[in-house]
Amino acid sequence: MQFNLPTINLFGEQAIEQLLGEIRKKGWKSAFIITDKYMRKSQTYERIIEVFSLAKIKFKVFDKTKPDPSIDLVEEACQYISGVSCDFILTLGGGSAHDLGKGVALMSQTQEPIKTFVGVHKIHHQVLPIVAVNTTSGTGSEVTRFAIISDTQEKVKLAIIDDALIPAISVNDTQTLLSMPPSLTGATGMDALTHAIEAYFSTDANALTDAYAIKAMELIGQYLLEAYNDGTNKKAREAMAQAQFMAGVAFSNASLGYVHAIAHQLGGRYHLPHGLCNAVLLPIVIDGLLKKDRTVRIHSIGKALRAPGSSYGLIGKIKQMNAKLNIPDALSKIGVQKEDLSDIATKALEDPCRITSPVQFNHNELVELLVKGL
Ligand SMILES: NC(=O)c1ccc[n+]([C@@H]2O[C@H](COP(=O)([O-])OP(=O)(O)OC[C@H]3O[C@@H](n4cnc5c(N)ncnc54)[C@H](O)[C@@H]3O)[C@@H](O)[C@H]2O)c1
Ligand SMILES: [Fe+2]
Repeated sequence: MQFNLPTINLFGEQAIEQLLGEIRKKGWKSAFIITDKYMRKSQTYERIIEVFSLAKIKFKVFDKTKPDPSIDLVEEACQYISGVSCDFILTLGGGSAHDLGKGVALMSQTQEPIKTFVGVHKIHHQVLPIVAVNTTSGTGSEVTRFAIISDTQEKVKLAIIDDALIPAISVNDTQTLLSMPPSLTGATGMDALTHAIEAYFSTDANALTDAYAIKAMELIGQYLLEAYNDGTNKKAREAMAQAQFMAGVAFSNASLGYVHAIAHQLGGRYHLPHGLCNAVLLPIVIDGLLKKDRTVRIHSIGKALRAPGSSYGLIGKIKQMNAKLNIPDALSKIGVQKEDLSDIATKALEDPCRITSPVQFNHNELVELLVKGL
């Protein structure tokens, strides 16, 4: 068994400033910053530049990150970095910036096509180190071995899963998280809850991943609504930052299940926010798992979320959380089309995330489950 996470993880109100000492210890001198236009104008960016100035780091900035980064965007960023000295990549943003950065850390060091690396443990060369400054709570991408890159031609999200992609340093700075609008807080918080639940269900779960997953669920149950209702609540923001971090560690090591396997198809096809897809799918998939196998271990999840006794109490609790976060309760309400369901099911069955689900579905069963969730 192996259990991995970044070696250095910085939290709190001065997390960005703490980077200075860590960067000095590494002896790095040049960086490539990957962010988006919004973040480039932020105070967080200014604080990072101040740290770079003190550490005498030369840098180049790519600020064209878009939600759900594509293969083309990875190639464009690699072109931009080509021939430039770069000791590390600093990603500033949510899951999209980190995933783009992971794609560049990987693809700037090889001539092979990106699809060579799709799946589990396909990387056999050294990739650039990553410092992931995380601004959402969250995908957990700042701690995970996953890079999710969109294939816009095939309309799917590709999952590259390898320990080589785990950032060297993760940063969750509290001040940075305060500016998240409620819709982003809600969707990313439910993404984190889905990570914790799918990691706990996973056939690869173990005592270590369970500990991270259960604690993450407890904190999300306690603090997500508080952070959603008052984004300036530092205690709730810090708790959610830690919760999504733990959920990330849990799923990075135990992997995921059908919620993510399907969500990747909805994101790739309709460009819907990843967390929103997971939130809507979570009760639908848990219901499907339980209908096929009553022994799926959900008791501790219900306890962690303080849901009423029965398994259906847990589903009801998740639906209630979604309602309070203004998240729709049906796939059709987020634009999923009935005629696409068969293709979505086919592609979800090809997604590596479903391999560790405790219950497997065939194509017909998966379509049936999705029709029910429409
Ligand atoms: N690699 C992994 O382990 C992993 C896990 C789950 C999801 N993902 C991927 O992550 C992506 C989604 O990431 P995300 O949900 O973090 O959103 P995101 O990174 O796509 O960002 C969404 C929007 O929020 C804005 N934003 C980010 N932080 C902000 C802040 N603090 N204040 C105000 N605005 C802010 C961004 O500028 C952007 O416009 C998806 O592509 C998904 O597939 C990756
Ligand atoms: Fe996710």
